[in-house]
Parts: sequence; structure tokens; C-alpha cells
Amino acid sequence: MFVPLVEFDQVTLAYQDRPILNRLSLSIPAQGLTLLLGPSGVGKTTLFKLITGQICPDQGDVRINGQSMTQASLKVVYQLRKQMGMLFQSAALLSELTVFENIGLPLKVHLKLTESTYQERVHQALDHVGLSDAGALYPRQLSGGMSKRAAFARAMILNPVLMLYDEPLSAQDPVTCQSLLKLMHAEKIRQGHAGIVISHQIQSLLPIVDHIVLLDRTGIVFEGTPEAASLSVQPLLRAFLSMENSGWLSDDDDFKLGER
Ligand SMILES: Nc1ncnc2c1ncn2[C@@H]1O[C@H](COP(=O)(O)OP(=O)(O)OP(=O)(O)O)[C@@H](O)[C@H]1O
Ligand SMILES: [Mg+2]
Repeated sequence: MFVPLVEFDQVTLAYQDRPILNRLSLSIPAQGLTLLLGPSGVGKTTLFKLITGQICPDQGDVRINGQSMTQASLKVVYQLRKQMGMLFQSAALLSELTVFENIGLPLKVHLKLTESTYQERVHQALDHVGLSDAGALYPRQLSGGMSKRAAFARAMILNPVLMLYDEPLSAQDPVTCQSLLKLMHAEKIRQGHAGIVISHQIQSLLPIVDHIVLLDRTGIVFEGTPEAASLSVQPLLRAFLSMENSGWLSDDDDFKLGER
């Protein structure tokens, strides 16, 4: 048994009258990295929005460390959010700020540091992601891989308890993927840290994930360790695993991946 850090308890959610989640229950452990899989449009990013309190469920509850997000005051939601780092599907850097200022922004917003400590923390974060020489650049001057690494540094600068990675490896070359995987691994082994990653690059992530959750339009269809996933005969899971190996889906797999 694991101690849950995030708990979805019978969560139901619709956008306008379009149902997305139906009585979904799921627990995310407080240690290690959880890989969240599922077809496009099934509601993966929506789960991140629920965790960060950007949206509330229509029914049910989302709890972070036992604290209900639906019952919490805005102040408590902000406190909980401070303990989370989010790497967005797009890097989402602020275009009018330099890389240095982007990375330092959470420190400015949440902590009252002296100028020298602030400078030191941001320089450390830049070093950590291999961008020591890029602090003065603006986001438009960065390559895609550099943007992802800058966004990574911004997401981890407050030493979050929970890191949320939304498609961190998509559209990245193999070298950038490797450097992002190393950064994710370093975060994962940091004491008292947990992470959730949404990604289709399953084979790249398998060596560093501890827990796999597969969501389809009916809810959770697989939950277990990578070892259990490799032995599972669950058809959608097999389709996801084989898709990356072969690059193609069989005709049988097509219907399983159809959008809602
Ligand atoms: N703010 C919104 N208003 C209305 N519909 C929305 C909103 N956000 C998401 N949706 C819809 O909810 C569904 C789930 O969206 P979500 O972004 O969670 O999917 P996803 O699983 O992350 O997909 P992908 O793998 O393509 O990123 C989609 O059909 C999407 O069109
Ligand atoms: Mg998404």
C-alpha cells in the first residue's frame, strides 16, 4: 500500500454539457513518478487542472495530502499550489521576460529573498538545466529544447513536493529528450518528491516511472507497476505499448484510440 499524495474521489466533470470524467477515483502515491496515459481528449490535462485547483469537479472531491481542494479557501489553494511545479504542454514562458526573469518569477511571487540569494538560486537553476549562458535571452531567441529546459527550471525552482509534466518530451530531439529524462529522474529521487507525467513516449519513460495509470473514456482501465503493465493483456494498454514499438497501430487498435 502507498500513501496517496493526490486523491480523486468519485470525480465527475463536464465542460458545459459535455461529460469528460464520470465518478473517477484514483490515488497518486507520495513517492516516485506516475505515468498517465490515455487517448487524446480523454481528460489528462483536465486532471492536472483539477489537481492545481484551476477547475473544480461538478461532483466528488480532489484531495492533496488529505486536504480537500473543493472545500479549501483560495488562500489554502494558493498554498497547495506553491508546492506544485507544472511543466505545461507548451513551455508557456512569458515572452516579455528574459529566461533569468522567467525562472526567477516563482521566487519573486512566493518568497521574500534577498537580491543575492535570489540571484544565486536562479543561477543554480540555470546551471542545473544547462542554460548558464542563456539567462539574458528572451523566449523567442530559444530553441524548442531550450524553452522546455527553461520551463523545467521555472517549475522546479521552489523545490515542489509534486511535479506535473504535461507532454514534456513531445516534439523534442533524442538528445533533448535524454537531458529532460535526466532532469526528471533527478527530481524523482529528491527526498519527499512525487511526479506525474503525461506522455506518449512510453518506452523512453519506462525506465524511470514507478506507476502507470491508463485512462480511457470510461475511466481508469489499468493501474499498476511497469512490470505489471508489460504482463497485462488489457487491449488499450497493449495498443499503447505496441504503438511506440512499431510506430503503427493495427486496424483493431484504431477504434480503441478514437476520440470521445
Ligand atoms: N476549457 C474547456 N472548455 C470546453 N472543453 C474543454 C476545455 N478544456 C478541455 N476541453 C475538452 O475536454 C476534453 C479533454 O481535454 P484535455 O485537454 O483534458 O484532454 P487530453 O487528454 O489532455 O488530450 P491531449 O492528449 O490531446 O492533450 C477535450 O475534448 C477538450 O476539447
Ligand atoms: Mg493534454
